[in-house]
Amino acid sequence: MSDLFLTGIGHLTTNRGPAIEDAVVAVEDGIVVFAGPEGDAPPQTGQRIDCSGRAVMPGFVDAHTHLVFAGDRSDEFARRLAGESYKDIASSGGGILSTVAATRKATEDELFDLAASRVRRMIRSGTTTVEIKSGYGLDLGTESRMLRVAHRIGEELPVTVKTTFLGAHSVPEEYKNDRHGYVEKLIEEMIPGVAGLADYCDVFVEEGVFTVDEARRIFTAAAEHGMEARVHAEQLGHTGGAALAVEIGAISADHLDNATEEDAAALATAGVSAVLVPGASYTLRSRQAPGPTLVEAGCNVALATDCNPGTSFFESMGPIISLGVVQMGLTVDQAITAATLGGAVSLGIEDRGWVAPGARADLVVLDAATPAHIPYRPGANLVARTFKDGVAVG
Ligand code: NIG
Ligand code: FE
Repeated sequence: MSDLFLTGIGHLTTNRGPAIEDAVVAVEDGIVVFAGPEGDAPPQTGQRIDCSGRAVMPGFVDAHTHLVFAGDRSDEFARRLAGESYKDIASSGGGILSTVAATRKATEDELFDLAASRVRRMIRSGTTTVEIKSGYGLDLGTESRMLRVAHRIGEELPVTVKTTFLGAHSVPEEYKNDRHGYVEKLIEEMIPGVAGLADYCDVFVEEGVFTVDEARRIFTAAAEHGMEARVHAEQLGHTGGAALAVEIGAISADHLDNATEEDAAALATAGVSAVLVPGASYTLRSRQAPGPTLVEAGCNVALATDCNPGTSFFESMGPIISLGVVQMGLTVDQAITAATLGGAVSLGIEDRGWVAPGARADLVVLDAATPAHIPYRPGANLVARTFKDGVAVG
């Protein structure tokens, strides 16, 4: 890992206090050893890069994606725009189950190539850590294949990957008349089968998908196999997923579009992160999560792409930050923190999402004077350079 010396930083976002102007960041062995005013900087070592007054900030931590999948659902996008609902399309055989059919047919190499092309664009857009869920297999073989692909992304591309088992994303076609049987299969066969391949377990708690009681049993089994809980909660309606996340001590509750003030207070008290995905609400033209309420309640809030072929085919964090500000009502500073430090905290990773001595040198140089340009100019990729462990990767 080469050393790095970034000079001429017009505006350095540290997430450890106010932004620093005319700053320098020095990196040794992939770790930040200095971040502060130019006048206080240590003698230069390593490669010097002059940022010419541009802004530098932590790399994005995208804490919620479903980016390993095959198939094409652009037709559903058109059907929704013509008035069909997400749920109607799902119950007529489209939706998640159509991606399941395509993903089951794809080989591991095909899935890798599709996912890797998405992640390469993410890296060029400043993402340095990404969470990847399974959930388009709904059988042990395909779910394991998806999780192996996610691990391979982390091994072959310059990005940190965290993996989540989402076998409880939907009830597969072959169990449509035996949902109890599928829950048993998840608990008896699939969770033990993916143990060691996934850091977390997730359940889509929603009317018509999985109930709170089913989810509780699934999460209990997952905990016995070392997987912490992340919960798809209160996305399309309010069914108690947030309260379950609080009850079981989940690491995060995600989506939360229909979360209440009581949910926000309970999540904050229990220390459950709120991972918000404004791209899904935008694509579905549905309500945005109450981001400002969650922040005010004291929750750790993360913003994430939710990259998936049905509800949120976003790969870049820039537009997500813009939606977080313009449509959800977060302040620019809240949204920038949520897209970096908030995501890292929601993944239980302490060494990134901030810039100060001791941090991992996952950094972004913007083609702009401040990060406020990110939400203000959502149509451009303002990331000039992405550094992973102090090495330029995009
Ligand atoms: O996060 N909520 C459930 N899962 C995805 C959508 C998956 C799909 O439509 O393929 C989401 O919105
Ligand atoms: Fe999701």
